Amino acid sequence: MAVPGVGLLTRLHLSAQRRTRVQRPILRLLSCPGTVAEDLRRNEQPSGSVETGFEDKIPRKRFSEMQNERREQAQRTVLIRCPEKISENKFLKYLSQHGPINNHFFYESFGLYAVVEFCRKESVGSLQNGTRTPSVAMETAIPFRSRFLSLKLKNQTSEQSCIQSSNQLPPSNRKLFELLCYAESIDDQLNTLLKEFQLTEENTKLRYLTCSLIEDIAAAYFPDCVVRPFGSSVNTFGKLGCDLDMFLDLDETRNLSTHKTSGNFLMEFQVKNVPSERIATQKILSVIGECLDHFGPGCVGVQKILNARCPLVRFSHQASGFQCDLTTNNRIALTSSELLYIYGTLDSRVRALVFGIRCWARAHSLTSSIPGAWITNFSLTMMVIFFLQRRSPPILPTLDSLKTLADAEDKCIIEGNNCTFVRDLNRIKPSGNTETLELLLKEFFEYFGNFAFNKNSINIRQGREQNKPDSSPLYIQNPFETSLNISKNVSQSQLQKFVDLAQESAWVLQQKDTDRLSVSSHQPWGLAAILLPSVPNRRSLTKKKRKRSANESIKNLLESLKSNRTANFTETNEKRTISTQT
Ligand code: GTP
Ligand code: MG
Repeated sequence: MAVPGVGLLTRLHLSAQRRTRVQRPILRLLSCPGTVAEDLRRNEQPSGSVETGFEDKIPRKRFSEMQNERREQAQRTVLIRCPEKISENKFLKYLSQHGPINNHFFYESFGLYAVVEFCRKESVGSLQNGTRTPSVAMETAIPFRSRFLSLKLKNQTSEQSCIQSSNQLPPSNRKLFELLCYAESIDDQLNTLLKEFQLTEENTKLRYLTCSLIEDIAAAYFPDCVVRPFGSSVNTFGKLGCDLDMFLDLDETRNLSTHKTSGNFLMEFQVKNVPSERIATQKILSVIGECLDHFGPGCVGVQKILNARCPLVRFSHQASGFQCDLTTNNRIALTSSELLYIYGTLDSRVRALVFGIRCWARAHSLTSSIPGAWITNFSLTMMVIFFLQRRSPPILPTLDSLKTLADAEDKCIIEGNNCTFVRDLNRIKPSGNTETLELLLKEFFEYFGNFAFNKNSINIRQGREQNKPDSSPLYIQNPFETSLNISKNVSQSQLQKFVDLAQESAWVLQQKDTDRLSVSSHQPWGLAAILLPSVPNRRSLTKKKRKRSANESIKNLLESLKSNRTANFTETNEKRTISTQT
């Protein structure tokens, strides 16, 4: 993940003077039919609401439908490195010789690139037929015909640049900070964060296109393979800048061998056999890794990490700027992405809360792009889902209840694990819970700040706490491989850091009066306040304040008991201040 942390926030001065509605940034877009209107509509969203791209699309698409549609779009698309100065009209006119263009956009990533989607797949072939392999002085080009092209100008000086580029990066810390401080409420802050960080339509297209380009390379060995994105690129929880997880799906290749039967005959391919599935995976990834390294245009820094629990090939796709992890034989992870897609699509509060918590965790270095003893984004998402299953009434259904809604088509067993759950979103009843995001954020910190991690595990299948089956500090049951813990890597000290910060953040968010003061004294408030790094002074101050607050509460309580005024102390705020301590 290449998302910068929010650690710089402390060094920023708040320029926001009033808590008025902020002028939303004008989107740096493009000339794609269909997307401009969509973006204008997005900008017209009322305060406190955010278009997630799902709620208004009824009936809502299944994950597999969405993936197939996007894949088909990507196959009609090319990626073109452009000269810095280029006329958009002439560029489009030139390409239109090969067929009508459905849409296009430009972006910058150490150079100007265009993503051009034709209406028909044949146009790509036509364009490739009119494309030559470059001759390079001093070096030799390996002839490789892909859909990643380079446009050269015959006359370098004649063109004027009038291109608008689509943004592929998350907002700067300064901008994020300002937006959060201008927001009207914590709900508004969370929705703003979501809106600013979520993957854009263009970024999603670029992710599918990158998979499609890698698929073309892998197809040299496995012509029927499919390279599918999974993880946060597709599960609705992706942030701009997140990595691109790819799954090399060879099921088509495998299935073909079982389908060709006729009469009394059964034809099989002659194949090489290896002792285990793992060795087969390693061999396949090894050869694809070599291929990407030697022949993959724009694929750099290829690393074969074949001895990992889940073998993978990691590389950077320079043109798109994505850090890619290619795996195979990892279908359960694809199914987990589908499950998260369902949870993220069911209720608009889910994504806003997950983004808020992920950002908070990153800002406090609870998560990291380097593997280690820290909590992962995947685990954090599971914690939010579990928390939302525990609300009354629940905001999200348990995995077991999604299983009971499944029909025959949804039945799915992977490597002996039951992965059956309803795939049709329209069959899931919406929740009657109307709690605000502000309340949910506070309660999330309160809940996990006081969770009995020493004895209980988190289980989204049943939506209830269960006894931990082993002594791992944090136990989050893998929803499909139910004997596994997805957070086995988390150390006691990292868990304690999470708990301390959750308690501190719960306390900060409860200081309603401080919020009001903060606005007038230009201090960060609400979500912005909890994204600030927890410096030791602030922590001890918080602890002291908490202690003072608890002491004061107890003192007041005793006084009120004396004067028979106990009713005043049933206020939720008071109760919470004390419970945060425990
Ligand atoms: P980012 O941090 O934004 O990349 O989130 P992510 O959800 O993409 O996480 P990551 O890239 O680490 O992993 C990709 C996907 O692999 C996840 O979405 C899960 O579906 C799956 N995955 C990751 N970690 C685990 C794990 O520990 N157990 C299982 N079963 N699946 C995992
Ligand atoms: Mg990922």
